[in-house]
Amino acid sequence: MVIGQLRSEVRDELGDNGHEADWIISHVTKMSQADFVLHPRDVTEEELKAIEEIVERRNQGEPLQYLLGETEFMGLTFKVTEDTLIPRADTETLVEEVIRKIGKKKLTVLDIGTGSGCIGISIAKNCKNTQVTLLDYSEAILQVAKENADLNGVNVDFVKCDILEEIPEGVFDVIVSNPPYIETDTIFSLDNMVKSYEPVEALDGGFDGLLFYQRIVEEVAPKILKDGGYIAFEIGYNQGEAVIDILKEADFVSIKLKKDPCDNDRVVTAKKG
Ligand SMILES: C[S@@+](CC[C@H](N)C(=O)[O-])C[C@H]1O[C@@H](n2cnc3c(N)ncnc32)[C@H](O)[C@@H]1O
Repeated sequence: MVIGQLRSEVRDELGDNGHEADWIISHVTKMSQADFVLHPRDVTEEELKAIEEIVERRNQGEPLQYLLGETEFMGLTFKVTEDTLIPRADTETLVEEVIRKIGKKKLTVLDIGTGSGCIGISIAKNCKNTQVTLLDYSEAILQVAKENADLNGVNVDFVKCDILEEIPEGVFDVIVSNPPYIETDTIFSLDNMVKSYEPVEALDGGFDGLLFYQRIVEEVAPKILKDGGYIAFEIGYNQGEAVIDILKEADFVSIKLKKDPCDNDRVVTAKKG
């Protein structure tokens, strides 16, 4: 089948405006979207079978990023598996804020709950003088982060640590984290795509969603964040006030709340007093 006909059939099957159809076809055929027009060719039987299988699973609700095993974040490609959360566009607000703050400074950065590594790796890629450490609690997750560090050509460190149970070694100038922050009860009401496919451990922030902020601010940062060090969190749209209170209680200063492009509260930053 020629590529043009395949594109329109896949669009129809997905009920999609073309974005996902092109992404799938490009992924399987290894043709760029420009190639579809400039160098069209017939797809092989094997490619067709692979595309049909992806479309079928996609129509059953499986996230495309898991089906293709990759996604885009901050203009970079990241591998994702069922062990890792799919990086969200919202999280780019946090990363952009931290990159702006660090600039060319020579700093050590700890990314707590790194998952695919999207936050720490994007920082390492954009802030050449940083030494970034990626932390998560399982070897399988860190393996994905390692592959993503290689894929994006950054030299970072890795720490396996359950942040609720242990304090990682070292001292850092910056702690950045997009921790699990959904209230336990709310997880049941989440969209099926999220609930059925994404790891619950990446989402569950305890009964009030604040468990990780409290642990990091009250018990982790006092031991491993330098005095005057910078902390930056992604937060749920309705958690700004609560996270600011946690930071104030722990004597953090220069506390700032930032919104994402959809005008939701999304990032809180502060300085260790
Ligand atoms: C919301 S996800 C964020 C993933 C990634 N940083 C991102 O922004 O896409 C939270 C991450 O925290 C990790 N996590 C959950 N519980 C943890 C724990 N007790 N210790 C360390 N990491 C944990 C999860 O494995 C997951 O990767």
